[in-house]
Amino acid sequence: MDNLNGVPVADDRVAESRMDAIEKGGLSRRQALGAMVSAALVPVAAANEALASSPRGKAASGPATKKAFIDDLIGKMTVDEKVGQLRLISIGPEMPFAQIVEEIAAGRIAGSFNTVVRRDNRPMQEAAVTRSRLKIPLFFAYDVVHGHRTTFPIPLGLAASFDMAAIERMARVSAIEACNDGVDMTFAPMVDISHDPRWGRTSEGFGEDPYLVSECARASVRGFQGPSPDRPDTIMAAVKHFALYGAVEGGRDYNTVDMSPLRMHQIYLPPYRAAIDEGAGGVMVALNSINGVPASSNTWLMQDLLRRDWGFKGVTVSDHGAITELTRHGVARDNREAAKLAIKAGIDLSMADQVYLAELPGLVASGEIKMAELDACVREVLGAKYDMGLFANPFLRMGKKEDDPVDVRADDRLHREPARAIARETLVLLENRNQTLPLKKQGTIALIGPLADSGLDILGSWSAQGVATQAVTLKAGIEKAIEGKARLLTAHGTNVLDDQKVVDYLNYLNWDKPEVIQDPRSVEAMIAEAVSVAQQADVVIAAVGELRGMSHESSSRVSIEMPGSQRKLLQALKATGKPLVVVLMNGRPLAIGWEKDNADALLETWYAGTEGGNAIADVLFGDHNPSAKLPISFPRSAGQIPTYYNHLRIGRPFTPGKPGNYTSQYFEEEQGALYPFGFGLSYSRFTLSGLKLSAARISRGQKLTAEATLTNEGAYEGADVVQLYISDNYASIARPVKELKGFTKLTLKSGESRVVRFEIGEDQLKFVNAELREVVESGRFTVQLGLDSRDVLEQGFELV
Ligand code: NOJ
Repeated sequence: MDNLNGVPVADDRVAESRMDAIEKGGLSRRQALGAMVSAALVPVAAANEALASSPRGKAASGPATKKAFIDDLIGKMTVDEKVGQLRLISIGPEMPFAQIVEEIAAGRIAGSFNTVVRRDNRPMQEAAVTRSRLKIPLFFAYDVVHGHRTTFPIPLGLAASFDMAAIERMARVSAIEACNDGVDMTFAPMVDISHDPRWGRTSEGFGEDPYLVSECARASVRGFQGPSPDRPDTIMAAVKHFALYGAVEGGRDYNTVDMSPLRMHQIYLPPYRAAIDEGAGGVMVALNSINGVPASSNTWLMQDLLRRDWGFKGVTVSDHGAITELTRHGVARDNREAAKLAIKAGIDLSMADQVYLAELPGLVASGEIKMAELDACVREVLGAKYDMGLFANPFLRMGKKEDDPVDVRADDRLHREPARAIARETLVLLENRNQTLPLKKQGTIALIGPLADSGLDILGSWSAQGVATQAVTLKAGIEKAIEGKARLLTAHGTNVLDDQKVVDYLNYLNWDKPEVIQDPRSVEAMIAEAVSVAQQADVVIAAVGELRGMSHESSSRVSIEMPGSQRKLLQALKATGKPLVVVLMNGRPLAIGWEKDNADALLETWYAGTEGGNAIADVLFGDHNPSAKLPISFPRSAGQIPTYYNHLRIGRPFTPGKPGNYTSQYFEEEQGALYPFGFGLSYSRFTLSGLKLSAARISRGQKLTAEATLTNEGAYEGADVVQLYISDNYASIARPVKELKGFTKLTLKSGESRVVRFEIGEDQLKFVNAELREVVESGRFTVQLGLDSRDVLEQGFELV
């Protein structure tokens, strides 16, 4: 596996290169990807009208037709052609473009990922549908995770919006942009629950809660696939990473996962299931092992759970190089055994390794793999192509050559309006002492910090074709907001990181060219400059946090502290006595105890995307009232991990105010998360009062209603998220202290009140018991309504 197993970048530092260089194999994969970004395209509507004619003509739809069509095709295929349909490749030095085209013509490739320009995909598709014997179209996949050309906030931020319409819109817009580049499938949504912020890929997921992550998963699939993945403006969603990848031991990427079946079913599995129930056409299999068995060779996972119990009918794809890694897991003697284990377990497509190609023909010839087993995988791959509409028209999304865009990076191909509107919904206000925010657009404002003007970092990791120079930095956003009204002074303040070894690691990790560029001045000199700038201002805004590469694949941290000298910078700024607004940019919860206690205002902005700077400025200056809520608990320190709110009851819980000596606690630190799940402030003051249940006792099959009144007591119109938690007071197994079971986001005018109602029935009360059966048990439950997971109104009822 190469070390480029990460985010394709399209920033200005990646020079536009030429296909001939790729053909010679002279470019690395990432450089090749940069080169791919030089064709152009037209809106989907035009592509739709101008569909090139398929060599097969329009395939009629319907399950019977699909089955007959695929049976017929499989009947004509040789073993080599079948094996070819299980191969997903990526262009790189090991597979130059010219060679790929020949491989395609020979019927040895099912699809490619990471090629995202029509001009480059077209010759590949033409080779497939004109030169290959059976003219089976290719499909083109890509990591469209939180945007394609336009970058939306990272998924952790999207989850903070608690706004499923916003997430669906993000996915819809991303799908449209991806279609315009001829992409047919996305490796998303990423729905791995994370309880451990040391894991860099926490940024890519939707947080810690099974209910919220499941809702986000559904909204994403709806957005990507629309009514059906066979349209010119929809793409197929392949949910990942199945399964439990977010639970890697110690938060160290690619590590093992050991987990009880109960925890799997209660916490980690529901989001994948939700995506599949919503119709996701694909599943990407995780790199980790599960209780000793790698996911990629895990028959229980892919056969029993996914296909038998959940009824999944789509295609499975390995993660990058995962089949060959079975030898490194130590469950396969060699690649031959690895291929055998993977195909028997149910991996249809092999991503970026040659193991299926090299080993399957021999395994079939020896009878170790039955033709029916091979056919089952081929059937799923062809089925996915059918479902993506590619047999009906291989150029469905690519459109006609003459419509290819001249400049693929043209600004008018971006969707800036939804990017800004959605980003505003993701910003979490954590502190606001003395109503420091919103700021007035007057006087002198100092903007200080290493992330204040970084177009690259604000995109976050997995930013697909997002271009750094097209991103609005915080500095640009503030300049625009205060134009002609206030003066802006700036200073770099410090580098994000001081440790050159860490900088080297990040630069080596994912990028062709170093993306971490250090200011060579001493920390002392930079801080002195920043202090002198702060002294001239009425208010100081400090943009601090993590470089985007720090919250990424293979970027696990041992500490979740503010990195480098940034805290020193903040302390020096605080000492000036000026009001201090801390704007955090990061992809994981950070231990921000000092900032909590010392910042006059604290705003968590994650990585807010292409329009991030405008969106943050909208909130800083009160053009938008923040309403987002944390989708993951913020620990006080790494030692306190995990701090997820929905932990099981225990025999000796820590009791606030009555600490005792023999209760569950860390004795050197305050207990509980620094900021709980679901927490976030507004410029207005929202209160929730008068919790009422419609019944004190219900029987099975009946429902009750919980209601309370949300009031906006502040001076601004704004939104808040009312959260419904339920706690099962006693059951046949220990149950979580509370679990999110519903939420609703409401916008209220200043002074307005509204009654919020939730229906509670068996769906909200059921759980997976020790026999792994979903049950509802009679007994006492407590309903909790709150504006975060900690501070709630409570009332109990009985289920008889
Ligand atoms: C490896 C990552 O784990 C996965 O999330 C991604 O989809 C593939 N590479 C393809 O880029």
